[in-house]
Amino acid sequence: MKVLLVNGSPHRDGCTNRALAEIASALRQEGIDSQTFWIGTGPVRGCIACGACRKLGRCAFDDDKANELASRMHEADGIVIGSPVYYAGPSGALCALLDRVFFSGGDFTGKPAAAVTSSRRPATPLPSTASTSISPSTRCRW
Ligand SMILES: Cc1cc2nc3c(=O)[nH]c(=O)nc-3n(C[C@H](O)[C@H](O)[C@H](O)COP(=O)(O)O)c2cc1C
Repeated sequence: MKVLLVNGSPHRDGCTNRALAEIASALRQEGIDSQTFWIGTGPVRGCIACGACRKLGRCAFDDDKANELASRMHEADGIVIGSPVYYAGPSGALCALLDRVFFSGGDFTGKPAAAVTSSRRPATPLPSTASTSISPSTRCRW
């Protein structure tokens, strides 16, 4: 069994990654493998609703990580989406990628999934998510 941990932060080794590492550790204790997918810092296109994906079976834009992320999400038995909180929502780059993954990427119905967020203020009101501030060495920079 393989779980995909998506790091939706521009920081490869930031607080979101720290939270995902905790999840990876907990999964390992249960004998479950995981792999991390970092969305990076490159430009990410928003969905332009062109509908080309309906014929192609993938997003027509292949110059960012949307199609790779879709493939990795399909391969995985379970998915954990991690994001920093940006103005009480997920990061824009992550949302742009996931819009295109879900619009173009086929059916994920029934695939187990969870989400984890990292925020500066623990009381940031996001429903159904968990905040993390683990240790001084991973304290948030913003
Ligand atoms: C553009 C931007 C908006 C942010 N908005 C919030 C916010 O609304 N609430 C909050 O608690 N933290 C906010 N933060 C802080 C980040 O959520 C926090 O530093 C997070 O732990 C960063 O995770 P990372 O190290 O994985 O990038 C914001 C940071 C940035 C850069």
